[in-house]
Amino acid sequence: MYGKRKSYRIEEGSVKISFAGGEGIVTVLTDEIINVFSPLISEDHRSKAIEGNKAKGVSFEVKEKIEYLEIVTKKLLVRVYDEYKVDFYSAGGELLCADFRGSRQSSLQISEKFLALLKAEGHEVSSRGDINYRVQVVKRMEGDEAFYGLGDKTGFLNKRHYDYEMWNSDLPTAHTDAFKALYKSIPFFITLRKSCVYGIFFDNTYHSYFDMGKEKNDYYYFGADNGNLDYYFIAGEAMPEIVENYTYLTGRTPLPQLFTLGYHQSRWGYENVWDVREVVQKYRALDIPIDTIHLDIDYMDGYKVFTWNEDDFGEPKALIAELKKSGFKVVTIIDPGVKVEAGYNIYEEGIANGYFASTPQGEVYENAVWPGDAVFPDFGKPKTRAWWAKNQRFLIDLGVRGVWNDMNEPASFRGELPGDVIFTDEDEVSNHEAVHNVYGHLMSKASYEGWKEYDKRRPFVITRACYSGSQKYATSWTGDNQSLWEHLQMAIPQMCNMGLSGLAFIGTDVGGFGADVTPELLCRWVEVGCFSPLFRNHSSRGSVRQEPWLFGEETLAVNKKYIELRYRILPYFYDLFWECESKGLPLVRPLVLHYEHDEEVKNMNGEFLLGEHLLVAPVVEQGVNRKLVYLPKGDWYDYWTGEKKAGGCYFIKEAPLDVCPIYVKAGSILPNFEPMQYVGEHEMDVLILDVYDGNGRYVHRQDNGEDFAYREGEYNEYEFVVLADGTLKIELVHHGYEKLYRKFIIRHRRKTQEFEFKGTPLTIWL
Ligand code: NOJ
Repeated sequence: MYGKRKSYRIEEGSVKISFAGGEGIVTVLTDEIINVFSPLISEDHRSKAIEGNKAKGVSFEVKEKIEYLEIVTKKLLVRVYDEYKVDFYSAGGELLCADFRGSRQSSLQISEKFLALLKAEGHEVSSRGDINYRVQVVKRMEGDEAFYGLGDKTGFLNKRHYDYEMWNSDLPTAHTDAFKALYKSIPFFITLRKSCVYGIFFDNTYHSYFDMGKEKNDYYYFGADNGNLDYYFIAGEAMPEIVENYTYLTGRTPLPQLFTLGYHQSRWGYENVWDVREVVQKYRALDIPIDTIHLDIDYMDGYKVFTWNEDDFGEPKALIAELKKSGFKVVTIIDPGVKVEAGYNIYEEGIANGYFASTPQGEVYENAVWPGDAVFPDFGKPKTRAWWAKNQRFLIDLGVRGVWNDMNEPASFRGELPGDVIFTDEDEVSNHEAVHNVYGHLMSKASYEGWKEYDKRRPFVITRACYSGSQKYATSWTGDNQSLWEHLQMAIPQMCNMGLSGLAFIGTDVGGFGADVTPELLCRWVEVGCFSPLFRNHSSRGSVRQEPWLFGEETLAVNKKYIELRYRILPYFYDLFWECESKGLPLVRPLVLHYEHDEEVKNMNGEFLLGEHLLVAPVVEQGVNRKLVYLPKGDWYDYWTGEKKAGGCYFIKEAPLDVCPIYVKAGSILPNFEPMQYVGEHEMDVLILDVYDGNGRYVHRQDNGEDFAYREGEYNEYEFVVLADGTLKIELVHHGYEKLYRKFIIRHRRKTQEFEFKGTPLTIWL
């Protein structure tokens, strides 16, 4: 289509290249981030993921050669050829990624005769005449690629040889490896080769397609039904830098409120105040730590958003205040679908002000969700977002501590919204085809802004649907999984890939949402949930109840053990979030993130890291009581026994039902809190440090855990250094928060020592 390269000009940080058949714009954002653009439907990017100008104004050179135009940054050589083929090289001239110079060839051609037979049996198949997408980039496969990222896709960690789609989808049947798309569209992936690593972010909100070498072994591609050609090539020395650079572009998960990192209980089907009371009282009676109870759609009046079902849930302020007395925080669900009902304030206001999506003929568009006939807020309109933000005050004023945005793909019960339903893209008319994948993202943004403005604390917004960049506003979970061992197994690669895709605050429904959990499955799931940033037991109506005490003493004990462990290591989680806000690194990490040259971990689906210091190797198979564990090179310590293990090999770890194998990297210093039933139960003025032999440094932060004062320096930063000579140094390096730790308890091997702390540096002999 583009044809011969004709001329070029440089405008600010961009090189605008004229081809015989179109225009290409290559923009240097940083030495490592290059945007490749072609204005197919609009002159500008209109990105929903990237906010603000990310160009750092770095200098670059442009050299015109006969065959190509070369753009040179400190880190990259970008060569642009005829047909707008773009190849990327390292500054040293080593090829990183090249466009494929041929045509795609479908391996899935099917004759009309067989197509008819397949359709007759009910298979969903289509024979596409032209296999090319309107927007499409085909990259040459060098042969050694492994692919990671792409958000919440099902299947294994390494996406090589699989294909996926980006089209936010609420699919109620059990998610399998064959699913092309789930609730989130994160069109970003990382390519790991033996000699290099890079990322590609295809910033296109239309239905898009990613084939990572399934169609053919000699190329991979990404494409979309519409939109601009708009992708970012992201370079970096190693995988963590790719994630840092990607989250530099699309934003990072901000530090959450501390309580959100505790344990949460939820169920669709707590039908009234008595159900809720029974659950919270049982937790306290059994001394199982917990902070948050979630109210699903049952609490609303007729499933109308921003209403309260007082018949069953009583006076809301009174209930929330009562729960607060025993340390419980309440999170309530809010769906986007607004019930069509004369006299209902949210519906009436939206109609009066034109806040809802409409048909091409100009009527308000209606479909159905939980409340029956419903209309859909047009979150692409700034005015609708501001209104939705204000609506959050209904919850905030009641004392609710967070909002859970659900069904925002958007899900609809009378078939998917047609592509031509009218939505807005800020100041322009748009349609469902263009905004579908960012609908949940924009809803989260509106909710986040409302909580930030009216609650003042760090907003706790949970969302099911996401687009790249949603991490700035919301926490997310993997949606409606089921109580199946396969889903527990899948949770590991799924969370790892979501983390690599910028979504750091994530989790799965512990125990499984649909289907019926067994005691053993719940135990093994809690052992994974304990290390998931969002740690929430949630289940569906129609499935067995799955609170920890319902399956006998052993299950209760295992649940309690891991929930208590979670509360002990809360400061470690919190520190990882501090790091995430500045670097974008996820909490749950595949081993390959830190050990990319280790061939053993490229396809590691059964283990993960929590930060750099903990390696978790959970048992995720029914009836299995041992685990084949792989530890990367270096020394590690068994968390439970303290036994030293040399890495770089496999071994079998006995893992009865109450043991989740955990390993700590040598030289780690792990911060712990003293036991608590919930955040705020007592002052957290003692810090326990578990110190492991080796050389290591650890930065720990402390603040009020709730508001944004830390951004004005209201926090304390401690530096801990352990040396192989057996010393530990503790130093306060920033003192901005009034409450210092009163005491440090140091645990090393089997020895425990206590030290009062007054702010002056301490050197301790272990
Ligand atoms: C779908 C959500 O994924 C699930 O978590 C929730 O319980 C139901 N909707 C009902 O609100």
